[in-house]
Amino acid sequence: MDRGRLWTNGGASVSTRRRREAWLELRRRRALPALVLVLVVVALLAAGCAGGQPDIWRPHGSAGEEIRTLGIRMFAILAGVLITVWAILVYVIVRYRRRPEAEASQTKGNVKIEVVWTLIPAVIVTVLFLLTWQATAQIAMPDPGAQFTAVGHRWWWEFDFPDQDFKTANEVYVAVDRTTSIDVESLDVIHSFWVPQMGGKVDMIPGRVNHIHFVPLKEGTYLGQCSEYCGEQHGNMRFQFVVVSPEKYSAWTHHQAEPAATPAGAEAVAGGELIQTISCGGCHTIRGTPMKGTFGPDLTHFGSRGGIAAYTLRNTPENLYRWLQDPQAVKPEATMPQVPLPDESQRQLVAYLEELK
Ligand code: CUA
Repeated sequence: MDRGRLWTNGGASVSTRRRREAWLELRRRRALPALVLVLVVVALLAAGCAGGQPDIWRPHGSAGEEIRTLGIRMFAILAGVLITVWAILVYVIVRYRRRPEAEASQTKGNVKIEVVWTLIPAVIVTVLFLLTWQATAQIAMPDPGAQFTAVGHRWWWEFDFPDQDFKTANEVYVAVDRTTSIDVESLDVIHSFWVPQMGGKVDMIPGRVNHIHFVPLKEGTYLGQCSEYCGEQHGNMRFQFVVVSPEKYSAWTHHQAEPAATPAGAEAVAGGELIQTISCGGCHTIRGTPMKGTFGPDLTHFGSRGGIAAYTLRNTPENLYRWLQDPQAVKPEATMPQVPLPDESQRQLVAYLEELK
């Protein structure tokens, strides 16, 4: 090999150097538009992600409001610090830049300045601490004691109301302007209970009972979402958190405590008989029937819920049919097995379950 070729840079011809300079210039000119394009794409993606998601900047729960107010105050204080420091930095860079005519100067041993720049951060940190303390005290308001327990499962939510003697799944009602007090636990891995617009989240840990309480401030239907990665379907572990008037809440708990409705339509009647002869009762409970399984969601009032498979699908007969036909196609790794039945029988099961209002 001609070793001389390794050193051709040093002796590059004029035309080679020009070509390289032209190429570098082209790269310089392209870099800025490319950077702008990347920023625009990132901004658009971020905006797309925000669409349809619960908005933590518009909370409707006591804890959420405290956290938002604290967040805004902290942001304002820290933005003030950032702008002040940048302004001083720019001033110092310009004012004390190296000048050919001036001697290099250095400030040292100024006690007054040192005391001031030690005190200012101490005061800022104290203010931040007091604001956080105040918000924490507000969030930890008096607690009336848990009304129900939320239990995390891979990947669905169980809501257990021991006083009213019923359990339901993936949808829970609470009363507006009353303290909602919830114990949380898990039967498999660590999940996390979170209704973003109510504020606050709490880990659901196997073998331990954690707790959260807050006051829902506005009637409405809010999305709940598991916020601790718990496996493949973590993103599809959602529930509906419905805030209603105290009267409606009381009516809901009374209705949920009742046994399942008796099917009326011919198809639903056939489905109600069929479901007792196949293995559904091994995992599911339908109160008022022999089905008493506890591994899967309680289906007693399944038809009254808005979603299927922890809100992976909306609760419609077509979607329920799809779910029963092939749960793994809808929610891979879910423990719900396929129900191998002829089409007519599937339709009967769907008719029955949808009548369980
Ligand atoms: Cu349960 Cu993530």
